[in-house]
Amino acid sequence: MPTVRLHDKEFELFIPESEVHAAIDKLAGELRAKYQGKRPLFVGVLNGAFYFAAELVKRLDIECEITFVKVASYHGTRSTGRVSELIGLNEKLEGRHVVVLEDIVDTGNTVRHIMDSLLEHHPASVSIAALLFKPDAYKQDIPIEHVAVRIPNDFVVGSGLDHDGLGRNLPGIYRIINTHA
Ligand code: IMP
Repeated sequence: MPTVRLHDKEFELFIPESEVHAAIDKLAGELRAKYQGKRPLFVGVLNGAFYFAAELVKRLDIECEITFVKVASYHGTRSTGRVSELIGLNEKLEGRHVVVLEDIVDTGNTVRHIMDSLLEHHPASVSIAALLFKPDAYKQDIPIEHVAVRIPNDFVVGSGLDHDGLGRNLPGIYRIINTHA
């Protein structure tokens, strides 16, 4: 089993690239059937979604647009706690069918913030498509409608996902080796 060391942590191959590609093929089929003729706007969430977005849209032979945003998170000056803002969204969303592309949905807090921001622009619809989803960690009620691969609640890297900046370029998905087990 191939392993890799990133900073202080060891990871082992969990899902080979061929399986990741097969899961994205299937997801592309779902999205093609749902959005054909609707000119969807795909919104990739950087940094992690660059890989998923590229692999997904090259499989979608329908009319569509793609853009990217970043989520900036900071503490508000009032008692509202954490405030999130979407940076880089220049497209008009009103009346559009929007599909958010996430590398991974874990607790769902990020998806919640993105959804709240996007809905302010009155799109016709918003759905979430995720390369990876951890159902056991998920704490929100927003449906994650389109998922390539469901995984257990382990920390993973590769295919766009990082550990402190490293590992995004690894093909396939690697899972952390729990050295204390
Ligand atoms: P959430 O807001 O808890 O759903 O987390 C979403 C973000 O946390 C993702 O976009 C990732 O940046 C990061 N994240 C969550 N789980 C992992 C993981 O297993 N590996 C790498 N990053 C992760």
